[in-house]
Amino acid sequence: MIKLSKLATAVALVAAANAAMAGEVEVLHWWTSGGEAKSVGELKRIMQGKGHTWKDFAVAGGGGDNAMTVLKSRVVAGNPPAAAQIKGPGIQEWASEGVLANLDATAKAEKWDSLLPKVVADVMKYKGNFVAAPVNVHRVNWMWANAAVLKKAGVAGTPKTWDEFFAAAEKIKKAGLIPVAHGGQNWQDFTTFESVVLGVGGARFYGDALVKLDQKALTSATMTKSLETFRKVKTYTDAAAPGRDWNLATAMVIQEKAAFQFMGDWAKGEFTAAGKVPGKDYICAAAPGTANAFTFNVDSFAMFKLKDATAQKAQADLAAAIMGTEFQEVFNLNKGSIPVRLNMDMAKFDDCAKLSSKDFVETAKSGGLLPSIAHGMAVMPAAEGAIKDAVSQFWNNDKMSVADGVKSIAKAAATK
Ligand code: GAL
Repeated sequence: MIKLSKLATAVALVAAANAAMAGEVEVLHWWTSGGEAKSVGELKRIMQGKGHTWKDFAVAGGGGDNAMTVLKSRVVAGNPPAAAQIKGPGIQEWASEGVLANLDATAKAEKWDSLLPKVVADVMKYKGNFVAAPVNVHRVNWMWANAAVLKKAGVAGTPKTWDEFFAAAEKIKKAGLIPVAHGGQNWQDFTTFESVVLGVGGARFYGDALVKLDQKALTSATMTKSLETFRKVKTYTDAAAPGRDWNLATAMVIQEKAAFQFMGDWAKGEFTAAGKVPGKDYICAAAPGTANAFTFNVDSFAMFKLKDATAQKAQADLAAAIMGTEFQEVFNLNKGSIPVRLNMDMAKFDDCAKLSSKDFVETAKSGGLLPSIAHGMAVMPAAEGAIKDAVSQFWNNDKMSVADGVKSIAKAAATK
């Protein structure tokens, strides 16, 4: 009895200590679609399980442009959230403003350096210190297909080349269905564009044109071919595409209204949330001509400097939770991505995730692993924004010649 009461006292003391250190974490993100909301809900659950209060700061808008605008105004006002979804080279830009917190204590205790691919760890650091925690690895160069629609249109298997793709698209159109589900927003146009460039020009060309922003590549015949192909893809989208959200385009594929969507594997989160099974209801395949390449998009949370000690504790717990095995598994199962933490057990993941995981490793060796420009991985935000606008203007203006499109994209890239 004495022992038990001692134990109870000890438990109560620990609980009190935890409660005393319980803080609030305000987390800015743009995960508002069905699959995305489910995924971020898991992080909230884990943080609440640690006794902290989750303050959701969701700013709708796929790709995150709206979220970044809102974040800037909060930081300028001197009132940043504890954590914000900031990615790629953008992390460096924020860190250079001196507003990000140093996460080294957590990173050391949790051994992040040995648990992350070096390319990813480097992006999370500023001047050698961790300032952000990575969540996942999304693959962008996917093509999602509805198996029943392909069957109805008499298309056998998913197209491997752009020629095969256009032959399939013709059949689908003749069958009275929409070949390509597209959401006409600039970042979605850009997402399709980078897959087309990769498929037409190959990994090395993509690297030269869209990572190095090499003017020779940007004004080459291969870029002309890429723009011609890109414009042809548009002819297979429906008239209602402009302004449509990406998840509504995914829904068109889920509901058998459209055959294909070019989108990163957050689209798989929508299929999963709708109870659809890969290989049966839908197919995940690399975009035509891109099977040996992998455009990556690593989501991450940068943490802002906070004054309050309990808020700092909650923030450190958030960073640790993000890199923890529980979160890495359950979040990515819902999100459609794969864990960024190395050596995770993939048993519960589906075939698309397993393929992604295998290709991530293989392309890292072959030179096919490339940062997604459309998702903030390849160039600084200002250059990305300028190129995105030029690409989108070309997509939206059928009267603009391909030659003018090439010129305006190359010019936008030169303003880096
Ligand atoms: C991406 C982000 C993904 C997904 C997508 C659509 O930029 O990395 O996690 O949320 O936008 O919102």
